[in-house]
Parts: sequence; structure tokens; C-alpha cells
Amino acid sequence: MNVSSARLLDGNRIAAEIRQSVTPGVAAFTSRHGRAPQLGIVLVGEDPASEIYVRNKVRAGSESGLLVDLQRLPATGTLDELLQLVRQLNASDGHDGILVQAPLPAAMGRSATQRVFDAIDPAKDVDGFHPTNVGRLVQGRAHLPPCTPSGVIEMLDRSGIAIARTHAVVIGRSDIVGKPMAMLLLQRDATVTVCHSKTPDLPSVARQADILVAAIGRAAFVTPDFVKPGATVIDVGINRVTDAAQVTSLFGAGAQRVADFQKRGSIVVGDVHPAVAEVAGALTPVPGGVGPLTIAVLLKNTLAAAEARAAEG
Ligand code: GUN
Repeated sequence: MNVSSARLLDGNRIAAEIRQSVTPGVAAFTSRHGRAPQLGIVLVGEDPASEIYVRNKVRAGSESGLLVDLQRLPATGTLDELLQLVRQLNASDGHDGILVQAPLPAAMGRSATQRVFDAIDPAKDVDGFHPTNVGRLVQGRAHLPPCTPSGVIEMLDRSGIAIARTHAVVIGRSDIVGKPMAMLLLQRDATVTVCHSKTPDLPSVARQADILVAAIGRAAFVTPDFVKPGATVIDVGINRVTDAAQVTSLFGAGAQRVADFQKRGSIVVGDVHPAVAEVAGALTPVPGGVGPLTIAVLLKNTLAAAEARAAEG
């Protein structure tokens, strides 16, 4: 049997490249202004996945020379308390970037996330989620592009994968990934299709893609029948799997990932099925693919926000 295997796109290596370009910029800002650029991160509650993401953001920021101010609110905190904290960070001269980790506790209500993103000063909105920044992104003049989609573009560029004149298919239409991803690909002259849970015959639409971005949030959803042979597949999914039978069925008995599962009781799996590696031309692993790039772009955006604020006087 002739089973080829996709080229793996190493997110850790590419993120390290980006961070190496951010660190000297942070040092230069710090010596010029007598203070480091500062990122305020707000974490509400104790969602286990958010705890890990935020810990990684704090560590990466500190390693790059940023000041990172982690502000925590209990899961029982109210939306008013959270909005008050955002207003304090907006008013603080020393804070250049503000990030409120999503998702927020369900008890805050359905519209809480949007209300919080609306409240962040657009000049400090390092996630790029404020409507003003979303508007700028749609017009192709984003100053602070959303971190995950921007990281995907960096990944493609730095891996020598052309975007212009390709057909890109994005599965998922979230405000955080799917929609901004589609905009960035469009600005780079891809022909873009956005699919979602109500798209008829999703595999046949996905199979048209030269670049397929999976951002659905369902473990191993994208199977080989979604993938044109040789396509580039970008896996944005971060799904914690706790079911032993599911892990064995995905990776096969004896696989390293199964051993990892047996040791820890859970593993993180992307939106792309492992068998896609036999069809795709290039593929991002999970973990170690898009995740590290999201953080690298966050650092880059924080420096950009600090420089723009300093230039404004
Ligand atoms: N939750 C998952 N991804 C993100 C992100 O990029 N920014 C924020 N604020 N929350 C998230």
C-alpha cells in the first residue's frame, strides 16, 4: 500500500520566529519609554481550558519582556463587575493591551461576551474583537487583527504556502476564528467559502479546498473524505477528549497518544481526524500547530498597541 504522509507545519518553530522578532521591539520600547508594554488579562471563573490558555499567555508575555497583569474574577462575579474592571483597564495609562478570556460563565448571560468586547477601548483591543476593529478588518486595514486567524496567515506565509488564487474553505463561522479567518484569506486573494453546521454536503464543499481551515470545535470531525489529496489542512480545534474508547478508535491501540491518555486521563485532539495525514499535503498538528501562533500574535499585537498609543502621545 502506498500511504503518503502530510508535511507537518511546526507551530512551535514558527511561533518562536515571531517571538524572536517581538522581543527586541519590546526591549526597545522599554528603554525608550522607561516602562515595558503592559497586557491586562482578565480571567473569569476557573474553566480548565481557559486556565491553561491564560497560563501560557502569561508565561509567553513575561518571557518576551512584557508586563502581564492577570486579573481574576470569581465565576460568581457579575457582568457589572467585569465591565467595571474593563473600564479601569481602559483608563489605566500603564496598560496597553486588554484581553478578556472567552468563554465567560454562562450565568453572565447570552450577550455578556459581546457587551464586554464592546466595552474594551479599541486602541487596547489586542484580540481585535471590538466592532471598530472588526470593521477595520473587513475593510482591509486592521491594526490589531484577531490572534488565531492572523497566526494561521503567518503559518502559511512562513511555510511557503501560497494563498492568492487558491480556494480556501473555512469550516466554522465564529466571531473569534471563522469570520475573521475568511476576511484575512479574502484579503490575500483567496476565493473563500465559509461552511457551518447547516451547510448541505459539507464534505463535498470542503473537498474543493486547496486550503482547508477547520474551526468547528468537534474532535476529529474532519475525516479524509473532506480533503482533496495534497490540500493544506489547518486544524484550529482544541478539544479535550476523556473517553478511552474514542482515543483508541482515533489513534489505534499502541499509539503514543493512547499511552499519553492512559497516563493523564485525557488528551487534546484537534478538529481534524488523524487519518487526514494520509491525504493532505500539509497539516498542522494538535497540539503544537496553531495554538502557539495565537500566543505569538498576541505578543505582537500588544507591542503594536503600545507603540501606537505612545505615538499618539
Ligand atoms: N478564547 C478562545 N480563543 C480566544 C482568543 O483568541 N481570545 C480570547 N479573549 N478568548 C479566547
